[in-house]
Amino acid sequence: MINESRRGFMGKAFGAVAAVGAVASLVAMKKSWDPLPSVMAAGFTTVDLSKFTGNKLEIVKWQGKPIFILKMAADMPAVEKRSVKVGDSYYSVMIGLCTHLGCIPAYRDTTKDFKCACHGGEFTAAGVHSFGPPPRPLDIPPFTIKDGNTIVLGEAGAEYKALIASLSTDINIA
Ligand code: FES
Repeated sequence: MINESRRGFMGKAFGAVAAVGAVASLVAMKKSWDPLPSVMAAGFTTVDLSKFTGNKLEIVKWQGKPIFILKMAADMPAVEKRSVKVGDSYYSVMIGLCTHLGCIPAYRDTTKDFKCACHGGEFTAAGVHSFGPPPRPLDIPPFTIKDGNTIVLGEAGAEYKALIASLSTDINIA
C-alpha cells in the first residue's frame, strides 16, 4: 500500500516535471521561430542612424544578408552615385557580400576601405571595387529614408530610385 502510493506520487512528480520542461521547450522554440518585429513587417529592417559614428562600420541584417552602413567622417567625401544623404550626413549603404564569390569583406578604418580575405579583393569606403577579382561594386539594397535619422531597408524609396537611376549599367542592384 505504501509502495503503491509512493509510486503514484513519484509518477505524478515526474509527469509534472516533464510537462513543465515541454512547455519551456515550446516557448523557447516559438521565440526562436519568431523574427524580430522590425523584420516581420514584410521583410523590412528599420535602422536608427542617430548614434552612428563617422568611419565606424555598422552591420545590420536584412533578409538574412549582412548590410553595411558606413557613416562618412568629416574627411571622407561623399561619392557621386554611391553615397546616401540622411539628415546632414552621408552614408554608404551596401550589401556586405563580396561581388566576386560572396565572402564578407572586412572594413579597415585606418585605410578607410574594405578588404575581402577570400581572394584579396578590395573596395573603397563607398563600396566601389578597387583591386582584385570583384567584378563590380558592392550591391545596394532597396531602402527608404524616414524622418532625418532613420533608414528602412527593404522599401524602395525616392532616394533609392534616384540613386539607381543614376548608376551605370555595370552595377548590379539587389
Ligand atoms: S570572394 Fe571576395 S575576392 Fe573572392
